[in-house]
Amino acid sequence: MKKFIKRFFVILLIALVAIQFVRPEGNQHEVVAANTLNAALPVSTEVNDVLKAACNDCHSNNSVPMWYMKIQPVGFWIDHHIEEGKGELNFDEFATYSLRRQYHKLEEVAEMVNEGEMPLASYTWMHREAKLTDVQKKMLSDWSAAMMDTLEARWPMDSLVKPQQQSEQHESEEHH
Ligand code: HEC
Repeated sequence: MKKFIKRFFVILLIALVAIQFVRPEGNQHEVVAANTLNAALPVSTEVNDVLKAACNDCHSNNSVPMWYMKIQPVGFWIDHHIEEGKGELNFDEFATYSLRRQYHKLEEVAEMVNEGEMPLASYTWMHREAKLTDVQKKMLSDWSAAMMDTLEARWPMDSLVKPQQQSEQHESEEHH
């Protein structure tokens, strides 16, 4: 038995060393200015700063690399969050979204921030500075509400929400 345990840990150690040579690609990509949130909607410097400090590591095409991302499997775990976060909402590609998606994501931003679901707790644990104050939360949700008004002023309502889908959408959100 002792021999078995020893062998198990040796194999585990070898495996841990081996996976250090496999690294996720990292989230460093070229940003096309015309596709960004800033190209679609007015973003104040204050809002931009909060997004940059608290959201963009997972919701943009460029994350600030941290030393611990080089340690596997931590790097893979973080990479997965980034891919998932970007898939849901990528501020660097916001302008390429349909109007309906833009409008809906703005609503989600306010919701996620007010409910304290974003930024993810696992992120603020390592990035204390990303923890939003009540003032910052209000600023972000006021901004998203204002941006929804801006879209409403620019476009007819039925290009922003599909009337018959509205209730369905709310239902599926509850299951999230
Ligand atoms: C550590 C990575 C990370 C950070 C930082 C982060 N998010 Fe997210 N975000 C995710 C992931 C992963 C998802 C998808 C899974 C989920 O909804 O929990 C997501 C989903 C979202 C969604 C989409 C919800 C939907 O269903 O459409 C919104 C909106 C959002 N985040 C806003 C924000 C905002 C605003 C910030 C900054 C205040 C932020 N996030 C910071 C990882 C992150």
